[in-house]
Amino acid sequence: MMAPSTPLLLTLLLSVLVCVNADWLSSLLSSPKKAQAPPSNIPPPSNSNPNLTFLKWFTNNGGYVNPAITLSVFEMYGRGLKVLDGSLVSHLEVLFSAPSNIILTKSKIMDLYDDSTTKRGIDEVVNDDYAIALELCVQCALGPHSKWDAYLNVLPHHVSNLETFTAHELALLDSASLEKLGNQMQERTTRQYAAVSGLLKNMAEVSGQKAKIPKMGFEMTATRCLSFESFRHYTSIVASRAMVISGEKHLTPLADMPNYEPKNDGRVMANGQDFMKYHVLGDDGSMTVKSDRDFGSGQQVFEDYGDNPNSLYLEAHGFVPFSNPFDCAELPNPVITDEKVLNVMKKLKIVEGEQNYCPPVCVKADGEVETNTRSYAYYAVAALGKFPTKLKYCEVNMDDPAYAGSACIRWGGSGKAVNELISVAANEGIKNFGSSIDEDEKRVKTLEGNEALAVRYRLSKKRILSEVASSVGVVEEKAKVVSDDPTSLAEKVANFNAFIESLNFPTNYLTAYLAGAEQRVGTKASRKIVAGEPYITVPNVAVMSSDTAATDSSLVNELIARGKSMNDDFHTLLFFTMHERFVSKSKSKWWPYLTLLPTLQDYQEYHPNFFSDEKLEGLLGSPVRELILKNQGKIKRNFQGVSGDVAVLEAFGKAWTVENYSWAMTVLDSRSIWWSGMRHLVPLLDLINCQEGPAGSTVHATNLDSGGKNAVTLAPWSFKEGEQVFENYGQPNHIYFLFHGFVLQSNAHDCSLIMASVGPNDGGARDMDELKRRMEEGGFNSYSAEFCVNEKNVKEETENLMNFLSIKDGLTKVDASVGVEHVEAQLKKYPEVEPLADDAGFDEKCMRSLVEGEKKMLGLVLAELQGRKDEL
Ligand SMILES: *[C@@H]1O[C@H](CO)[C@@H](O)[C@H](O)[C@H]1NC(C)=O
Ligand SMILES: *[C@@H]1O[C@H](CO)[C@@H](O)[C@H](O)[C@H]1NC(C)=O
Repeated sequence: MMAPSTPLLLTLLLSVLVCVNADWLSSLLSSPKKAQAPPSNIPPPSNSNPNLTFLKWFTNNGGYVNPAITLSVFEMYGRGLKVLDGSLVSHLEVLFSAPSNIILTKSKIMDLYDDSTTKRGIDEVVNDDYAIALELCVQCALGPHSKWDAYLNVLPHHVSNLETFTAHELALLDSASLEKLGNQMQERTTRQYAAVSGLLKNMAEVSGQKAKIPKMGFEMTATRCLSFESFRHYTSIVASRAMVISGEKHLTPLADMPNYEPKNDGRVMANGQDFMKYHVLGDDGSMTVKSDRDFGSGQQVFEDYGDNPNSLYLEAHGFVPFSNPFDCAELPNPVITDEKVLNVMKKLKIVEGEQNYCPPVCVKADGEVETNTRSYAYYAVAALGKFPTKLKYCEVNMDDPAYAGSACIRWGGSGKAVNELISVAANEGIKNFGSSIDEDEKRVKTLEGNEALAVRYRLSKKRILSEVASSVGVVEEKAKVVSDDPTSLAEKVANFNAFIESLNFPTNYLTAYLAGAEQRVGTKASRKIVAGEPYITVPNVAVMSSDTAATDSSLVNELIARGKSMNDDFHTLLFFTMHERFVSKSKSKWWPYLTLLPTLQDYQEYHPNFFSDEKLEGLLGSPVRELILKNQGKIKRNFQGVSGDVAVLEAFGKAWTVENYSWAMTVLDSRSIWWSGMRHLVPLLDLINCQEGPAGSTVHATNLDSGGKNAVTLAPWSFKEGEQVFENYGQPNHIYFLFHGFVLQSNAHDCSLIMASVGPNDGGARDMDELKRRMEEGGFNSYSAEFCVNEKNVKEETENLMNFLSIKDGLTKVDASVGVEHVEAQLKKYPEVEPLADDAGFDEKCMRSLVEGEKKMLGLVLAELQGRKDEL
């Protein structure tokens, strides 16, 4: 792959180091000057254009090239791909497809040789790059007899990567690590050449004989092509042009030609997943490359090589991008002087060894550090020094592996504190450079070649650090999303009621209205409703489900069909809902319903799926916090998983974002009404708010009528005309909170969650068969058990908990003291808190009430357990 720099034409000198000692070559070694050869391969006949010869060779070998593109030469970039004048190339269009027989990999090269010694020799070459470089040396020596001749003719004569940097050029990089790496690369190649030169000679001989090349002509080129300089050159060629696919380096003619330019699509780092979307290895070993964006007439076809920092581009490809959103700059870790903080770092194994070493972080211009990294842990713990209460809470919990992470690393506010420390460190980092940004900007204009690359490289680092340094204190919560539907809520309600009217429900005693405060929208009785009578009957056709999923997009319909065929009811409904809400919008038949649902902004305000770590501090100590984090993680993972599917990206385009996906996940998780084993979104029925009913009332249930055409709901209790109608969903508060973001003050079905699980270090895990047997016997079907305690079931649940804990510890007899220990440890996890202010948010009040409930129930369980202990 080529660099955005003017390639220097460097004459490949005949190296005195030539160590090809074949008898038929030895005469040449005594007079190396005679063998001085032209800098490139044997020139092709002068009337042919090497670019066109190459493309012809490519298709003659069974390759496909999109007729809209050709090879061309661009200023600053050198050779690249170009869209023909008057043509267009669109995102995901196939650019070309290279057949297997011209792609070089180590294993394919082994197949070119019959004798097992050569095969083994190639197999033993330390890495793919060197193995492929050897074969390129051989093919170079074969000249016009080589199958790859047309390809070799369009390869650059010089590739400047880190290895070709002189000591002076390396010093210009102003990076100790790269300087070291550059020197190592040079030494390594020299060592390798010495190790493989015998093999190379042998490969060349065998290939020369096979091609029936008259000796003398072959010797001339062979000397040049098999030299150290040539080996080093082809190693650079492979390092910069071959790509790793399925764990093996592939040097693919043409696929190595598009130049780099980032897409700037704001995507997150995903370990090259994005690159793999556009480079597809076929079952027949061919490689198909698709366009990663739209290109207009006459434009250069660029490619985004993936989520890499500049160091990789310099190291392997020998260029420094003009811009790269994935570039990062290394920061020296702040030195820790606080003994307590250092102690936490040692305990959590964030630092190691005598020197308390932790690898330095590489920050991008936005200054963000991924939360699940060791660097984040380092900075988050370092920041605890300024928060004594939080540090104390961390110290109390750091021995519990299940809890140390949330207490010491992802503590509320840690994101902001990490950002601040990073900014300070960036400021320090800038001071370590020997020159300023201004000086470099002036200087880079006067330089060329490797010197220009080196200065451009360090300039990029400085710019990143200065951007990070200047962002102190400006790191805010993510910008609020603006609504894409300006209609007022009152209008939406009116449109919705008209929509419901048009659907002709067989029975409907409800109207939607603005219920105010936390409820937003609710339902009221349009006439008197009597307990037990059907009061809302919704026909199947008025319900969004896998059955009614159909859109005006054939691409989305294909996804829906695929979802159905895999019985993936969830994604079928999700794709349907996302398409109608974010793509069709007001053109969708379902719009009056979808637009009345809580918006993304609403959810960001109150739904736990969108809570920040800081907000979740309100649940510190509670198992509900862990469940919320688990849900949040699940949404992100699912999104990333599904995003790997090109068909999905194509079908949704700009609407496919993690926010829109999270909205749809939240809608489905919180509003689905189940019958016949399937999820349904039921307009109007799902607007009924939740409340405890009077004595004797029933819990919500919707069922299909006998004809299977309508979903019928019976009134849970009686309502007067005009009164707000409620249902009782019969769930404990933590379930309401997890899925809907509210709790009920009065809730007969409430109970508080206590969790316990068996870990690999528990006594019970020593004998897994016995553990399994006892779990089954005790009626536990998971190594992680949930107990839900209220005043009525406290005896029973205490008993269950005690049984579980005894099995967990591998005790032969049920023992109340293990229960006491467990509950006391749980109670210790709740930090001391101030009473809530009167103006505390609804979410804060909900979380506090969950925590208070849990503490109270743990107290009851503890008393119960102590009573039993005393009995013994
Ligand atoms: C083919 O490539 C050469 C450089 O090797 C360039 O000078 C020439 O303009 C190219 N020809 C065409 C037709 O693009
Ligand atoms: C949701 O989808 C729309 C397309 O309708 C898109 O423009 C918007 O950016 C997405 N919203 C977010 C917050 O990602």
